[in-house]
Amino acid sequence: MNTVPAEDRQLFQDIAAAMAEYVEDDATGHDMQHHWRVFRLGMRIAAEEGADKDVVGAAALTHDLHRVLGDGEFVDPEESLPHIRRILDDVGFPEKKREAVLHCIAVHEEYGFEDDPSQAETLEAELIQDADNLDAIGAVGLARCFQFSGAHGNPLWRPERAYTGEPYDKADLSDSAVYHIHDKLLKLAEHMNTDTAQELAADRHAFMEQFLDRFKQEWRGQR
Ligand code: ADP
Ligand code: NI
Repeated sequence: MNTVPAEDRQLFQDIAAAMAEYVEDDATGHDMQHHWRVFRLGMRIAAEEGADKDVVGAAALTHDLHRVLGDGEFVDPEESLPHIRRILDDVGFPEKKREAVLHCIAVHEEYGFEDDPSQAETLEAELIQDADNLDAIGAVGLARCFQFSGAHGNPLWRPERAYTGEPYDKADLSDSAVYHIHDKLLKLAEHMNTDTAQELAADRHAFMEQFLDRFKQEWRGQR
């Protein structure tokens, strides 16, 4: 039996080391810690769903490389593929599984959200979408949201700006943290692809609702 934890496998350590050079200065919430959290969630879901762990692990550790390519401007994940090909080559990643990793990365932002259908064509790609979105909800997701808001100089909440239910606008980075929670984070749980992620998401979702109730009560001096 293989008793080495997945995180300690040399293959994954080598991929992470190569990736760390790209994201070491990241301040957008896509640092190496995010990649490792997605990796651990990915491994857990892969075990339940019977997905290929080499593919999931490699994709989890490299999926947001595109975030650091644009000098502040958004760059499509497709543009990160040559870099990721080189990393997989350098670490000797099994050749016959490389295209599967690249597919996960190419479509990871195209999860089914609001009216857009998911572009994932494999279980592994669905699973990376799920693991990435799970890291945006729950306690960690809330922490990332508040960190992002602080970095952008946005307030915690603008109670006078009620959430209207309008479609999420990715380009609008200036809303309050609480607005973003309503606008995006509370919508993610219903867009999970796999049953395993749906279960994890329901628990994280309930925690966010509880947090918001309490946050608003404390804000009003009711608690
Ligand atoms: P993803 O990597 O999930 O595609 P983004 O790059 O949009 O998402 O966001 C990275 C992190 O920053 C996420 O955890 C997200 O919730 C948070 N974030 C993005 N936009 C905002 C915003 N306007 N206000 C607060 N947090 C945000
Ligand atoms: Ni991500």
